[in-house]
Amino acid sequence: MRRRLAETTIRVLRDLTGRWGFARRARLKLRDLVARSGPPRWEATRDDLSFRYLRGDGIEIGALNMPLRVPPQARVRYVDHASADELRELYAWELHIHGWPLVPPDVIDDGERLTKFEDASLDFVIANHMLEHVEDPIAALHHFLRVLRPGGILFLTLPDARHTFDARRERTTVEHLLRDHREGPEASRRDHYEEWARVIESVPEERVPARVEELATEQPRHHFHVWELDTFLEFLIALQPPADLEAARATEKEFAVILRKNPDKHWPETAR
Ligand SMILES: C[S@@+](CC[C@H](N)C(=O)[O-])C[C@H]1O[C@@H](n2cnc3c(N)ncnc32)[C@H](O)[C@@H]1O
Repeated sequence: MRRRLAETTIRVLRDLTGRWGFARRARLKLRDLVARSGPPRWEATRDDLSFRYLRGDGIEIGALNMPLRVPPQARVRYVDHASADELRELYAWELHIHGWPLVPPDVIDDGERLTKFEDASLDFVIANHMLEHVEDPIAALHHFLRVLRPGGILFLTLPDARHTFDARRERTTVEHLLRDHREGPEASRRDHYEEWARVIESVPEERVPARVEELATEQPRHHFHVWELDTFLEFLIALQPPADLEAARATEKEFAVILRKNPDKHWPETAR
């Protein structure tokens, strides 16, 4: 009698745990499917911020083969420092791994200076994964904000160093950026190339000087500066550009920062 009771209990328990196990597995599978459906978080974040903030006429600098999706109320012209053919050659590897087609630039201009754009002529400027390639990011921010109308939007995304090949590099300090701006980027160019050769390319110490010479003659494609969201915000807070911070978000591979040009604010003396 006792034995039969014990056997029945075990059978019922096994049955129940089996079902619960199945239910649990099904629930986890469903959660996994929901999590994996839809675009990855970085893309969803770009879409969300773009549809929230972009209207009117603007530019995207360095879209390459990953132009930002924009809402129907936004008209974009694409700006890059080289022609479509030159970009295909320079970025052959990136274009090959992604497989998406290059967006031919409408305007060829140095995105750091935006020489072909009038002051206060645009409603938005987009620069996704571009600012880290720039030697003097403070000068670039000056020009991005210069070409914006009052209330215009600066849409930036940058690789988050914690999740890229830059993870082992020192984060760029505010002092370094101010020095690059005041003294000119030549002041730290050699140090950047040495760091790139040592940390990113793991070049043996005796080969570093030769590699630095090569890097100096190549078209720059590497990251001069390295940030994660909070070090980038530290930089903006120290810099006090004439803009309001509208949004800042970290995702699994990059961070996004949205600034709105504020005509009542002015560049502080220290960052002119
Ligand atoms: C890494 S790709 C970014 C591609 C894409 N926007 C993304 O989100 O991945 C960098 C792009 O910025 C462009 N770029 C870098 N420095 C530039 C400059 N000074 N002026 C104009 N374009 C520049 C490059 O030619 C390239 O198209």
